[in-house]
Parts: sequence; structure tokens; C-alpha cells
Amino acid sequence: MRRRITAAVCGFGIRGAEAYAAYQLLRPDELRIVAVADPRPERRRLAMERFGVPEERCYETGEQLLAQPKLADVMIVATQDRDHIRYAVPALERGYHLLLEKPISPDLGECVALREKAHETGRIVVVCHVLRYTQFYQKLRALLDEGAVGKLETIAATENVAYWHFAHSYVRGNWRRADESSPVILAKSCHDMDILRWLAGSPCLRVQSFGGLDWFRPENAPAGSAARCLDCQAREGCPYDAEKIYLMDPKSGYRSGQRQWPLTVLCPEPTEQALYQALRTGPYGRCVYRCDNDVADHQVVDMEFASGVTATFSMSAFTQDCYRTIRLMGSLGELEGDLEENTIHVRRFGCPERVIALDPVQDEFAGHGGGDSRLMEYLCALVSEGGTDALTSVDVSVESHLMALAAEESRLHGGAPVELAGFGK
Ligand SMILES: NC(=O)c1ccc[n+]([C@@H]2O[C@H](COP(=O)([O-])OP(=O)(O)OC[C@H]3O[C@@H](n4cnc5c(N)ncnc54)[C@H](O)[C@@H]3O)[C@@H](O)[C@H]2O)c1
Repeated sequence: MRRRITAAVCGFGIRGAEAYAAYQLLRPDELRIVAVADPRPERRRLAMERFGVPEERCYETGEQLLAQPKLADVMIVATQDRDHIRYAVPALERGYHLLLEKPISPDLGECVALREKAHETGRIVVVCHVLRYTQFYQKLRALLDEGAVGKLETIAATENVAYWHFAHSYVRGNWRRADESSPVILAKSCHDMDILRWLAGSPCLRVQSFGGLDWFRPENAPAGSAARCLDCQAREGCPYDAEKIYLMDPKSGYRSGQRQWPLTVLCPEPTEQALYQALRTGPYGRCVYRCDNDVADHQVVDMEFASGVTATFSMSAFTQDCYRTIRLMGSLGELEGDLEENTIHVRRFGCPERVIALDPVQDEFAGHGGGDSRLMEYLCALVSEGGTDALTSVDVSVESHLMALAAEESRLHGGAPVELAGFGK
């Protein structure tokens, strides 16, 4: 039997607690959370009550946690985008293996510095590119490896963010401003850059990108609208109305009392009363046309890889549902799939179509198409078996960051092509 691994969590927010520590509740014989750091008392209480972390091992800051001798096998760094590096580097120096939330950093120099530190210390670094761990993308990789489409030539991928998710995270929420977090092409789509690079099977040479923030601006506010949805005269016909999204949206099905994302972002105990209070006073009750957001609400990226593969990627806020699609076109056939449906169509030219329906993504393995829990399963096995080479290592991850940051550079300069070889040097 494999040894159970221990982990300390720096940043016990949504990801730290609900995506990663939650694996302890599913598989207590594989993972034990032994220490956490978070300035919010309610998050430390959650660590004690739900995960059994002793009070004396619940610290207020990552600095306090890292001032202790090494407490666990792995440090999980799940603080906000610009606070990853300042905990990740000292954690490696302390001798921890690292599970690091993406993005490594919005600063390419910091990404490279972390890569160097990982090499120097010889510790495992797994960056949370959760999509690589899904059955869906792993099956696509396997189909390419077995020659299902001949020689891969072209990829077309879409990331359909969904209007309510975009409003939540990228207009009202934590990732609305590039200077406080990251540009959306890095924050949201570094996963897609990583998948494209992985499936293309060779490094990206150049990118070109267009798009911008078009809709979520003050000039698009309807007549009669107000700074907050609960005071708004125009809310009836507005799909972005916060009350509809968080308390009564028939599509998302969120209801007060449900203890799940995104309601737990508004308040730790999302009762109806607490949610209304959050909408009256907090950031998530703001009119989407009157926030201080600046990240793009739609963006396309064209890419060319060393193998000659070309790829197009399109991210849009303006979709009903939240899902990803992909088409892989090769010399002898094509693959087409939808991550949410977990289904892949294999069309070998001149042959009948084959449909591969992967296992239904069950509740307990549901986050990111099953990727969140599969990533933890992978991490526990890698650390307990003394492995070294992670599927989403820092070396691999830096490539996706380079692609995303180069795409942003291109977008900000009217779509001018950016060569990756010289970028950031
Ligand atoms: N891999 C993925 O698919 C994925 C998905 C969503 C978010 N993320 C990334 O995960 C990270 C966390 O996102 P989240 O949604 O959990 O955010 P969050 O705000 O819920 O969690 C961050 C936590 O860090 C805590 N914190 C703040 N300062 C701290 C300090 N000095 N020391 C320790 N903790 C501190 C906060 O109180 C908070 O609880 C972000 O970088 C985000 O981009 C990744």
C-alpha cells in the first residue's frame, strides 16, 4: 500500500480548501492536511472543523507557516495570482515539494526564477494545470499517439466562459483587473495554452492575438440602471442581474443554502440573508457596467508550433454555458470533442464515425471535468512513490505562460505577431 502524504496549505480559500484539501475527505488514506495559513479566521476555523487541522498549526500568514520547520511533504500554494512566488520560493528552500496554483506569476521573470529554484533544490513542482489530468484530454493525447488522425496539422479550440461566470470572476470578482491579478488570457486560458502546446507536441514559435474589453463598460449600462443590482430599475431584462445569478438563476440552479462555488465566494455560509447582505454591500452586487474591470471579455489567439501545427483559440464571455470544445485535424482524419459532455468523435476519413463516450464525470470527481481530483490523485502517487518528473512540471508550465503573455503583448499592440524565442528577454 502507498504511504499517505502530508500537506500544508498556504491560502485556504476556494481552491486551497475546496479543490485540493477536499481530496482528504474523499481519500483519507492518501492525503492528510497538517497545517494551513490564511488571514481569514473563518477559513482557519474550516481547517480545524472540517479537516481536523490542530489549532496550533493554523497560521495567519504564509510567512508564519514558512517560519516553522518543515511540517509536511508538500506545500500547496493557493493564494492569489500575485502572491504565489513569495511563498513558492521559500517553500522549495525549506525542502517542501510544491503544488502550485496557476499562474506561477504574471511576471515572466518570476516564472523563470521559480523554474531555476526548482532545478536547484530538486523538489517536485506540480503546477495546477488541471485539464491535463482529465480523461478527456488524456484520451485525445492517446488518440493522437496511436495515429487516429494521421499527422496532426491544425487545432481549433474554444473556451466558452459563460456570461454569469465571466461576470462573477472577471467583471465583479478577483480577476477583473490585470494589474491586480493577471490578464484573462493568462488567468483563465493558460490552461488552454498548456493543452494546445501538449497536443501540438512541440514548442510554440509565434502568436498573434486580437480582442478586448467591449461590453462590460459604463457606456453600455441600460437607461435606469444603478450602481447596485438591488437598486436597479432596469434589472428585469438584465441577465447579469446579481440577484438572478446568485439567488434564482434557473440555468445555474444556485440557491441560497447551497454550500458551493460561487456562492461560497460571496459568504462562507450562503444563507438567503447572508447572500442578500453580500449583494447590498459587497463587490458581487455591483452593476456589471460600473465595475473597475479592465480584462478582455473576448480574445482570439493564432499560434504556430515548431512541428508546423497551427492552432486557433477563442475565449468568450458571451456564452450561455461554461464549456470547452476542441477539433484536432490531421492528414487522415479529425477528432472533435466537448469537455463537459466528455465525448469524443473520431472521424477517420472514408470510415464510419466512432463516438467515444468517456465515463460520466461523477460528483466527487467533478471539478474541471474531473481534473481537480485526478490531479490530487496523481500528486499523492508521485510524492509517495518518490517520482520526480511531473506531468505539469514548472518547465512545462512556463511554456504556457510564455504563450499567454506573448499573446497579451500582441493584443495590446494591435495584433502584431510575437516571436516566442526573443519574448521577455
Ligand atoms: N487551477 C485552476 O483551475 C484554478 C481555478 C480557479 C482559481 N485558480 C487560482 O487559484 C488561486 C486561488 O484562487 P481562489 O479562488 O482559491 O481564491 P481565494 O481568494 O478564495 O483564496 C485565496 C486565499 O488566500 C488567502 N490569503 C491572503 N493572503 C494570504 C497570506 N498572506 N497568507 C496565506 N493566505 C493568504 C485569502 O484569505 C484566501 O482565503 C488564484 O491564483 C487563482 O487564479 C486556479
